Amino acid sequence: MPNHTYIYENQAALYELMVSKQPLLSDVIARIAPYSGRYILDLGAGSGRLTAELANKAASVTATDLSPAMLDVLRERLARLDARTPVLTYAADHRQLPLADQSFDLVVSGWSICYLTQSHLPEWSDNLAAVMNEIDRVLKPGGSMIILETMGTGYTEPHPPEFLKPYYQALEQEYGFRHDWLRLDYTFDSVEQAAELTRFFFGDELGDTVKRNNWSVVPECAGIWWKRK
Ligand SMILES: C[S@@+](CC[C@H](N)C(=O)[O-])C[C@H]1O[C@@H](n2cnc3c(N)ncnc32)[C@H](O)[C@@H]1O
Repeated sequence: MPNHTYIYENQAALYELMVSKQPLLSDVIARIAPYSGRYILDLGAGSGRLTAELANKAASVTATDLSPAMLDVLRERLARLDARTPVLTYAADHRQLPLADQSFDLVVSGWSICYLTQSHLPEWSDNLAAVMNEIDRVLKPGGSMIILETMGTGYTEPHPPEFLKPYYQALEQEYGFRHDWLRLDYTFDSVEQAAELTRFFFGDELGDTVKRNNWSVVPECAGIWWKRK
């Protein structure tokens, strides 16, 4: 598996190109938590896939991420969109947010908390507790949180990685999240682009599968977990 920390620091634009080939998520989020006119925190915002979509209707979006390079891409992207909604960015770890108590109506986090909660990390469960504490601290009473994570790239049915199963189970059983899954297939411009970008982020095994199957559409399943405070 390629080194994702290296990618987030040095290849943010390529990451952004890859996720731009997936469907939009604002309708999925709005069905769970109508967010028009709301104060939103995008935790682990990366290059701004969710921030850019939600900024359209939100009162404001605050985007945090460990990688300043990813946040640079996010700011460039928003400048191109000419979004009117205020967007604040902070380079910060999920476990220690430089944000005021009870300041958000909605916290979203896409494919990011998983970096702290992989079961081979001895501290994964303490990390999850620290992230949940921070989310709870910054959410207003009655606010909502929505977490998206992988259920398998290259699969048409949920196929969660073994090392994330304890985290997903904890969200549902320990922290009381509701759960569903959805397809978020990548629609690439060509088989060559599909092979190149999936190899770049997911590694040779998936890149080879994409080529062998002649896929320009690469199936992907995502899990979605949500809860109200
Ligand atoms: C797969 S990207 C997801 C980005 C974006 N949410 C999206 O949907 O495209 C994961 C992001 O999480 C960030 N990240 C990883 N560990 C983090 C941590 N402990 N605290 C804050 N951000 C973290 C990475 O820098 C990266 O930008």
